Amino acid sequence: MMFAVAIDGPAAAGKGTLSKRVAAHFGFAHLDTGLIYRATGARVLGGENPVDAAKTLRAEDLARDDLRTTEVAQAASKCAAIAEVRAALVAFQKDFAARDGGAVLDGRDIGTVICPQADVKLFVTASDEIRAERRFLELSGKGQEVTREGVLKDLRIRDQRDRDREAAPLAAAADADLIDTSDMDIDEAVAVAISTVGKVFRRR
Ligand code: CDP
Repeated sequence: MMFAVAIDGPAAAGKGTLSKRVAAHFGFAHLDTGLIYRATGARVLGGENPVDAAKTLRAEDLARDDLRTTEVAQAASKCAAIAEVRAALVAFQKDFAARDGGAVLDGRDIGTVICPQADVKLFVTASDEIRAERRFLELSGKGQEVTREGVLKDLRIRDQRDRDREAAPLAAAADADLIDTSDMDIDEAVAVAISTVGKVFRRR
């Protein structure tokens, strides 16, 4: 059984948590595609060329424990604008989406480029300030030295770069369901996503 759920949206919109919980609910596999770009960005910060890093990315790169910083996020977003970097990472993501047993992928271009035939497409957003507040709490909770202003600035710079690039820009697919989580807590957002996916899944 193949069943693909594409979850896209701007930085820190809650895609990660939402995707994990939707995948767990339906018993699907989950791929955080942002992690692939973060792992590439981390290797570039270590001195490598972006295209070489993307072409030789290994599973252990994704397991690094230093990928969730604003520095790595910025490096990821810079790498992600390079068409050749994206091209090197496409096949793995497409294969994942087509796996037997169902898959949830979250990122920026899942519904538009990686999996335009996805069974369900969600585009998750929230206001800049709310996304920044959530990310600030997440990073400061992990002991990182961040400020609210710094986190907000990071998100805005990345979103603009991600939206304005030529290669697979951040955008909602024309047939995506929009979920604005500004006034929802995570449980409410998860319930909306599960209900949307469930309506399609039950017909299959
Ligand atoms: O967690 P957050 O939403 O802040 O970011 P992420 O999903 O980990 O993605 C980090 C960066 O990778 C983004 O700012 C994008 O530049 C890039 N990315 C992308 O271009 N395409 C994807 N499918 C996923 C991430």
